Amino acid sequence: MRITDDLQSNLTSVQKLTFSDRKNAAFEFSKVVVRPFAARGETRWQLEQFKGAQVFHKNLSFPDLLSWVETTGAAVFRQALLVTAGTDYHYTIFPDRIKCKQTANALRRAAPQTHDRKKEYLLNEGENVPALVDLGVFTPDFRVVKSKYDKFKQINRFLALIDDRFAQMPKQEITILDFGCGKSYLTFILYHYFVCMKGVKATVLGFDLKADVVDHCNRIAEKYGYDGLHFYVNDVTTDALFDGKVDMIITLHACDTATDFALLHAIRHRVPHIFSVPCCQHEINAQIRPGGDFDLLLAHGLLQERFSALLTDAIRAEALRACGYAVDVLEFVDFAHSPKNLMLRCTLKQAKTPDLSAVTALCEKYGFRQTLVEQLLAAQK
Ligand SMILES: C[S@@+](CC[C@H](N)C(=O)[O-])C[C@H]1O[C@@H](n2cnc3c(N)ncnc32)[C@H](O)[C@@H]1O
Repeated sequence: MRITDDLQSNLTSVQKLTFSDRKNAAFEFSKVVVRPFAARGETRWQLEQFKGAQVFHKNLSFPDLLSWVETTGAAVFRQALLVTAGTDYHYTIFPDRIKCKQTANALRRAAPQTHDRKKEYLLNEGENVPALVDLGVFTPDFRVVKSKYDKFKQINRFLALIDDRFAQMPKQEITILDFGCGKSYLTFILYHYFVCMKGVKATVLGFDLKADVVDHCNRIAEKYGYDGLHFYVNDVTTDALFDGKVDMIITLHACDTATDFALLHAIRHRVPHIFSVPCCQHEINAQIRPGGDFDLLLAHGLLQERFSALLTDAIRAEALRACGYAVDVLEFVDFAHSPKNLMLRCTLKQAKTPDLSAVTALCEKYGFRQTLVEQLLAAQK
């Protein structure tokens, strides 16, 4: 049959298949939208079935989907639309035949065709990631929600930096911890990237203080069969977290010293890769006092705040280097896009007991304590 043939020949690029214009009034659903999603390392197909204001979900294997299309979809509805990465197939279903008109996909039509076409992101608008619809990043037809565009750009940049590193360390299996995951846009996208785009068996664990947000994220992960993605209510500054082998720790704007505890976990567990974008570096700003050559930078509140934030990240970078990491400090998005735009990208070369004497002298001179340094020193006693 025409629809199932097109489904099979476009298997890897199907975005959705919609059945509408019900001809059989006895059928309880007025519209059905089918989308692929990754579950347990394989592709499953979710039917979103509309009945008045309610939506009912059902997951099928591909053979079951083909038989559902033949026996139900094409029997009950007059119209179907198959959206693939490049082409839209518009079907009109008659009792004795199916007519099909093909058009270039709307996304492709919208894209400029010239040489200066904008560089595509790793995760693009229009990609079939239904979890991002539930998270409010994508609209139901996979456009970026306007107010989430900045976050979408940030996350794509984060992903590109990980992709770059991953190309040098391809893996079949990976475990990642996200400290202060919050609404977890990055966490979901990272899971999608490894499992669906790279075919890697991924375990991604997110930690956050907020129980309602954690619960919401777990429900979405469960809904789409993301069985390697889990969220936990934890205070990362005090709680014992995952104790197993970890390949990567990430933080994106984890508040203040939550970032230090992520870095500390990486150092203690010899985690090979860290991608950390700090935020709200209040700790030093609240304590620092004049003590030497940098006093000019403490004469104005705004300068002191910025200086303290930079000093915090400089100390973190130095502590990580002293513990055996190669550290790059990158501007991961431009400053106009977000002022919280420094990333510490670290790769463990050889774990070692750090010599923190230079950093400690600086802390003493300017009268402040810094959490990562304090914790590392405490471990040496
Ligand atoms: C600015 S949000 C960033 C969330 C997410 N990473 C993102 O970029 O969208 C910071 C998150 O860190 C969490 N957080 C702050 N301190 C924490 C702590 N001690 N333990 C766990 N989570 C913490 C907050 O609850 C919040 O969700």
